[in-house]
Amino acid sequence: MLIIPFMTLLVPAHSHAWGIESRIEALVSRMTLEEKLGQMSQGGLPDRVTPALRDLIRRGRLGSVFGYGSPAVRAELQRIATKESRLGIPLIIGNDVIHGWITGFPIPLAQAASWDPKLVQDCSRVAGRESAADGIQWTFSPMMDIARDPRWGRIAEGYGEDPYLAGRMAVATVRGYQGASLAAPDSIAACGKHFVGYGAAEGGRDYNSTWIPETVLRDVYLKPFQATKEAGIASFMSAFNAINGVPASANPLTLRKILRDEWKFDGFVVSDFTAVHELIEHGIASSGAEAARKAIQAGVDMEMISDDYSRNGRALVESGQLDRKLIDDSVRNILRVKFRLGLFDGRPQGLPKTRPAPTSTTLALSNKLAQEGLVLLKNERGALPFPRSIGRIAVIGALANSKEDQLGCWAAADPLTSVTPLEALRARLGSGNVVFASGEPAVVAKPDNGPGGWDRFLRKALTDKSHAGFPAAIETARKADVVLLFLGEKRDFSGEASSRSSLDLPGAQADLVAEIAKLGKPMIVVIMAGRPLTFHESARKMDAILYAWHGGPMAGPAIVDTLFGDRVPSGKLPVTFPRTVGQVPIYYDHLNTGRPPGQTGPAAVDHYRSKYLDIEFTPEYPFGFGLSYTTFHYSKTRVSRSHAPQGGHLTVSAEVTNAGGLAGDEVVQLYTHQRSASIARPVRELKGFQRVHLMPGETRTVSFELSTRDLAFTNSNMRFVTEPGRFEAWISPDSVSGQPGTFEVGR
Ligand code: GLC
Repeated sequence: MLIIPFMTLLVPAHSHAWGIESRIEALVSRMTLEEKLGQMSQGGLPDRVTPALRDLIRRGRLGSVFGYGSPAVRAELQRIATKESRLGIPLIIGNDVIHGWITGFPIPLAQAASWDPKLVQDCSRVAGRESAADGIQWTFSPMMDIARDPRWGRIAEGYGEDPYLAGRMAVATVRGYQGASLAAPDSIAACGKHFVGYGAAEGGRDYNSTWIPETVLRDVYLKPFQATKEAGIASFMSAFNAINGVPASANPLTLRKILRDEWKFDGFVVSDFTAVHELIEHGIASSGAEAARKAIQAGVDMEMISDDYSRNGRALVESGQLDRKLIDDSVRNILRVKFRLGLFDGRPQGLPKTRPAPTSTTLALSNKLAQEGLVLLKNERGALPFPRSIGRIAVIGALANSKEDQLGCWAAADPLTSVTPLEALRARLGSGNVVFASGEPAVVAKPDNGPGGWDRFLRKALTDKSHAGFPAAIETARKADVVLLFLGEKRDFSGEASSRSSLDLPGAQADLVAEIAKLGKPMIVVIMAGRPLTFHESARKMDAILYAWHGGPMAGPAIVDTLFGDRVPSGKLPVTFPRTVGQVPIYYDHLNTGRPPGQTGPAAVDHYRSKYLDIEFTPEYPFGFGLSYTTFHYSKTRVSRSHAPQGGHLTVSAEVTNAGGLAGDEVVQLYTHQRSASIARPVRELKGFQRVHLMPGETRTVSFELSTRDLAFTNSNMRFVTEPGRFEAWISPDSVSGQPGTFEVGR
């Protein structure tokens, strides 16, 4: 058979819409049904080109592959697709480039803690460039699932609990990946995931059911996705979870009515890993054929890994169960992104001449983002920053010296690029001044290879209360002037399928804190984790607490430079920290209720309030909270007008003063609240933030432009409206402080 790669017949390359649309139509008109179903199928990328895979691609039965294969395998698969298949349609090769590729970056939750979208964009640009050079054209990122339950392990992969902050971060990440032009050889297509509501999993248990009122679905969970759609994101990934009983990967409300009809999204939707076939387990499909039909009808364009589309598509069409037009529409959506990527127009697909490598520039960006994501939760008795002449430091805790764990979940970077805090400290002070003990038993168990061995290993690591490592740790601490304690989670304790029923410090760490506290030495604690943890009792024994998340390969230098004051911490929490897991779900933008706690009145009345008998109702640390080595004072918030007409604007301002002795950055936040509306409104909602750098004694007027459109919400009729009424606005350092200004919005 004479194979004339379709590309040679193509009209000259056009980048603008009508050129692409006419090229799509010309291609679709030539495709067989099997080739169309092939474009809608994504295979896994093995570490070598298997005969089966070669055959599938040659016959046009796969439109995409993904996985941690090698650049050589990716290049060969692309060559087969473009040179050996009948129409020469290129693959779109995907991968989980979640927080960096060759250069690693902090986990997304830590990136959100920086509140620095521009820096996040710069880092994502590096990730896009490096992965594109490695033969990848598409990343399954940003993950922007709003998470209000830290038991859920995937809170690590997203940007926390707030729709506005998550949206800003997700848009920055998309812009970084996709660059100025998707067709540029160093751009990759982004994929917003997991569409939608995945973070609302009941009990914080991964993949569990979600029950989300449509007003909350639209104003909380969909918000970041909508922001990325407006920013031009190329694709979305449909989620595993059921939304009110209808799985997200077969959900006409989210995938058709909202995504296509309302938002006019024209990219494509890929399912999550076998999520189409899992419709059978969900109980809404009795066969792979029914699963395929429901997913395609709902609007899932491409099936990841399971092959119900390719197996059943023809029979579904020929039996009249599936409209062939829906298949053509899905193929168009996929081809549109491939054209926009320049895959048909000579985008370089060959093996890179040299594999990209981290550079001092990219690692400096990673270091900066890690440092800006550090959140200072406590600093008493002048514990931090360390004085220049600090004497001997005892570094206790395995996390101080783990190149792997600080990379976090979904890390693609090579652990050899990691510099641990212990290494950074020794480089700074010399080995003689730094003594180390892991605090863990000398022999750490390894996972057995039996069924469930990995989960047994993780459960034991999380619950092992052994004190076997304590004597060495305490002996080490005795020799030092200061104890620097590293606590928290190994990287495998968060991420996918890594929910925890407890948020406590793992294993015997709380006991270790208590034992070391008995020595009466200054105790500075660095916590690495993929989620908020609860350590209420232990925190009392700590002089200072620096929350470092999993900060990536440069976590070590970032932490040490901050401990010594070379950099002043500016991170702010992107998620509420509960006092105990029993408070979950706890988040700042909650409703007031009819009996809000914390009011003062007759004792009898105080009792009947929305509170707990056994613990304060407030969080341990609120959303937006983070200390500095200096102190910032805020004036009362002012508004430029007391009344704004519908469609009008007003300016909200406040003076912020650096009242301390060190220069520092402060992330100034803007919140609003509508006192009365057709449905109860959150007590606060984040509407803006600015990073300001202030010298000691400096005062800056910080202003935000607010339009009445910014105050809109989805009402009970699912209309997105700004209702007239009285509003409060705060310019504050976090979600609980500040003195608000008030204003009215008219009809
Ligand atoms: C996983 C995750 C998803 C990831 C995909 C491919 O199950 O849910 O986030 O991108 O499969 O690895």
